[in-house]
Amino acid sequence: MKIRIKDILNKKTKEQITMLTCYDYSFAKILDESGIDIILVGDSLANVVLGMDETRNLSVTEMLNHTKAVALGVEKALLVADMPYNSYQKNPDKCVDYAKQFIELGADAVKVEWFAAQTNKSSQKKDCFYVVKKLLKNKIPVMGHIGLTPQTAHLLGGYKVQGKNEDSARNLLNQSKTLEKLGVFSIVLECIPYQLSNIITKQLKIPTIGIGAGNYCDGQVLVLYDLLGLYNKKRPKFVKVYRDFFCETRKAAGEFVKDVKTKKFPSKEESFSLTPEQNNFLKDLDNLG
Ligand code: KIV
Repeated sequence: MKIRIKDILNKKTKEQITMLTCYDYSFAKILDESGIDIILVGDSLANVVLGMDETRNLSVTEMLNHTKAVALGVEKALLVADMPYNSYQKNPDKCVDYAKQFIELGADAVKVEWFAAQTNKSSQKKDCFYVVKKLLKNKIPVMGHIGLTPQTAHLLGGYKVQGKNEDSARNLLNQSKTLEKLGVFSIVLECIPYQLSNIITKQLKIPTIGIGAGNYCDGQVLVLYDLLGLYNKKRPKFVKVYRDFFCETRKAAGEFVKDVKTKKFPSKEESFSLTPEQNNFLKDLDNLG
């Protein structure tokens, strides 16, 4: 049965919530069959699939294309699409138009990362709350994301653990409470000490989903390519590699190279053939040469 947002809310205090990122149709089908609760089309797409250094460089079109592919493979899991930087932080007034496109492609909700108002000429503060309010007013379900937010990592001193001093910890707690008050249905806590995620998780009624945030969250998320060992450019401490498909893929590709060079592949079994009668016309063709 299809998992809905109310099912995710009901899991708090009852069972752990599971979430994995996904970027294409084939993996989406596999994850959907695995019993995962939430599939996130993460903007980590930029790093692990498209080879970019920063998620901020991802275009909205790229995210939409991958969301479309994933949506075609998902039947049961709740499907959440990350709003890329260029769909809301660059111009907060565009957020609803873009979010609607993700929902039209099959996403059940969108995820937005916490961001502060950028200095611009407008007197109105257009920050994360402005965007979340706008999305919810337009009936677009929202998942929040606080702590280490990669889209604004450059403003946080880089890819570092957040909430390690009183000010920062208090800020994160306040952000989580405001997001809950606004109406997001869950919040990703990324790279914060487990003692702080425990406090946040206890003080919220909505579920928290941790990545590098310890074991006290209401659920856990990992980047699929990390879990499968496919991406080894950067491997944070919190990653658990469940299978080493980097090595397995390299081995398999190496075997293919060897088989082709030695003419072991393709064999007769992997080739199409003509019957002896059909083969007659080829004799004529062969004679032409
Ligand atoms: O883009 C992503 O992969 C994410 C997860 C790390 C939560 O936002």
